[in-house]
Amino acid sequence: VEPFLQAPADLKSRVPPYAKLISNLEVVKSLVNDAPLTLAEKILYSHLCDPHESITSSNLNDIRGQQYLKLNPDRVAMQDASAQMALLQFMTTGLPETAVPGSIHCDHLIVGKDGEAKDLVSSIATNQEVFDFLQSCSSKYGIQFWGPGSGIIHQIVLENFSAPGLMMLGTDSHTPNAGGLGAIAIGVGGADAVDALTGTPWELKAPKILGVKLTGHLSGWTSPKDVITKLAGILTVRGGTGFIVEYFGEGVGTLSCTGMATICNMGAEIGATTSTFPYQEAHKRYLQATNRGFIASAADQALHQYNFLKADEGAEYDKVIEINLSELEPHVNGPFTPDLSTPISEFGEKTLKEDWPQRISAGLIGSCTNSSYQDMTRAAELVRQASQAGLKPKIPFFVTPGSEQIRATLERDGLIKTFKDNGAIVLANACGPCIGQWDRQDVAKTSKEYNSIFTSFNRNFRARNDGNRNTMNFLTSPEMVTAMIYSGDAQFNPMKDAIKLQNGEEFKFNPPKGEELPGAGFISGRKEFYPENDPKPNPSVEVKVAPDSDRLQLLDPFEPWNGKELKTTVLLKVEGKCTTDHISAAGVWLKYKGHLENISYNTLIGAQNKETGEVNKAYDLDGTAYGIPELMIKWKQDKRPWIVVAEHNYGEGSAREHAALSPRFLGGEIILVKSFARIHETNLKKQGMLPLTFADESDYDRISSGDVIETVNLADMIAKYGDNGGTLDVKVTKRSGESFIIKTKHTMSKDQVEFFKAGSAINYIGTLRRS
Ligand code: F3S
Repeated sequence: VEPFLQAPADLKSRVPPYAKLISNLEVVKSLVNDAPLTLAEKILYSHLCDPHESITSSNLNDIRGQQYLKLNPDRVAMQDASAQMALLQFMTTGLPETAVPGSIHCDHLIVGKDGEAKDLVSSIATNQEVFDFLQSCSSKYGIQFWGPGSGIIHQIVLENFSAPGLMMLGTDSHTPNAGGLGAIAIGVGGADAVDALTGTPWELKAPKILGVKLTGHLSGWTSPKDVITKLAGILTVRGGTGFIVEYFGEGVGTLSCTGMATICNMGAEIGATTSTFPYQEAHKRYLQATNRGFIASAADQALHQYNFLKADEGAEYDKVIEINLSELEPHVNGPFTPDLSTPISEFGEKTLKEDWPQRISAGLIGSCTNSSYQDMTRAAELVRQASQAGLKPKIPFFVTPGSEQIRATLERDGLIKTFKDNGAIVLANACGPCIGQWDRQDVAKTSKEYNSIFTSFNRNFRARNDGNRNTMNFLTSPEMVTAMIYSGDAQFNPMKDAIKLQNGEEFKFNPPKGEELPGAGFISGRKEFYPENDPKPNPSVEVKVAPDSDRLQLLDPFEPWNGKELKTTVLLKVEGKCTTDHISAAGVWLKYKGHLENISYNTLIGAQNKETGEVNKAYDLDGTAYGIPELMIKWKQDKRPWIVVAEHNYGEGSAREHAALSPRFLGGEIILVKSFARIHETNLKKQGMLPLTFADESDYDRISSGDVIETVNLADMIAKYGDNGGTLDVKVTKRSGESFIIKTKHTMSKDQVEFFKAGSAINYIGTLRRS
């Protein structure tokens, strides 16, 4: 492979290592007998650490959905809430710098209430120690620090880091937003981010590939958001699980780069691993507009000379869905789930049928999903139309720019003024209302009455925006939200209905018009929001964590395995569904994400005790009742290691690593269940726990709290691990003294056995990297 064009010296890390990726792909191609590959496979497999190890069959169908891949991501992005635990874990490795470029984005902890000026000052004051910690870690380890107010992680990544063919991880579920610029970008937990930051191969089961064929072209009111709200309706929230969504077809060429990002962003709502688009002219235009013409030149070379950055002719998808953009109607999704999708023409009728509120109470546009120049110019054009007719918004209207670059460019071009002059509150460049940081003034959190809001955001679980479980968030395009604020009526369809003016005349919106990119280019805005490019690590920086802090706590490495059998006591037998929310609740506990001891007070508080039917209740050996974490703490002090026994799909839900960290921190050693959710099982192994499943499910019924469970020949199992796991006998001793052996199964791989022996994956990685 010939050398690629060079990037400017301080922006070298911005260009994917095309020459290396293409060489790697050539090896993969030879292993699969030149079978045509999808774009997603090309990007993913070109990032394999060793193609020979991961590609063990020439038949692609033996790889997709079957084979574990060991990958080398190119970079890592972290948001302020999840970065805390990622960095605390990274610190315990003792490494002086990160192995790949990383960035931290302070966006989730910023409140939305009165507008940027006031909100930023108060949010910085409330979270100062967390921001100081993140900043000091960034300086020490050479990570780029994007401070509060600089923008939302995914928008900044799109503007600066995403590139065609890149593979990146991000500690946020909407990381796939970067797929809009042709990357494979995957949302992960902090421990996975640490894999990449330490240069440890990152493991992923090879996804299947779902092809979405776009035909026709968007026009009028329809926007890219409608592609994904429509798709969510087709696939439901689980339909994309285990898949990468790859878009293709002539309709792709009619989309803007930022529109493609919106579509990829909300791929998270269908459970997809990630989503991506082939390299387009629109990508080139966006790269040039964001001062990255050098990436476009390199991508052109990769495409035209090596056929990279697009699917091979004849590549096969596991499943194909077709959407005709010319026939697509604007959609409104919700409430409470993003896959409840209704075309705008049917929305009014549906609100009557479902008894949803007839009055819309607020409209919010922006967020990482929809704050592009194109989105905002289309929304502002509707505001101008309404304003010229003498209309004012009927309900509160909030605008969240995605980054300082977008905000400053909108300000220069008069759009911020248009919004503000027409009653909008322009919030800080941050997540704000999208992540529950909406200090809402018009409706109380505790209100028992349902109220409806229209947003251009991506997620609409209960209480997500304003903490009120009765707020129905309807997800739609910024254009629909903006038109809706002038009516406030659920029956209003901006595409055909008119609004009565004071003079008795009727006003009807024309379809919105916008600009894909600013004619005068982007401007960067306030300098203070921009970090240095490719910063070097500075080992002399002291990482700031106050010993008495209740937000942050340095981690002590977990103890390595002592080589003996594990002898544990059953602390709790869980009944039924036990998700990561049951194991490690979110909500108010998010405040303690950087303080393992404090957040551990939430451990399993949502779990139901099989023996008593109570939630968050466990009993000591003398019969005294405790809250579950309280008994864990007592047994930790008593030096009584414990085990939890549970049923099917234990740990389903998210990749929340605290659900594995906290039980380990509180003295748990084994989790024995009928079955695990895969990601949680992996997380337990990463934290040095022993996850086991019953070989015979009916043994669950033979175990009670207070029983002693001991491993039998654990050392033997450790010595004989196989990549498909194996079995392990455990001895159960009842309180009566009766004992019996039951068979269990494990799925430990070679690396995971090493994690167990070292006490955790981080301990193992640290030792490996330091040696
Ligand atoms: Fe932030 Fe909401 Fe996006 S929380 S990262 S704006 S999904």
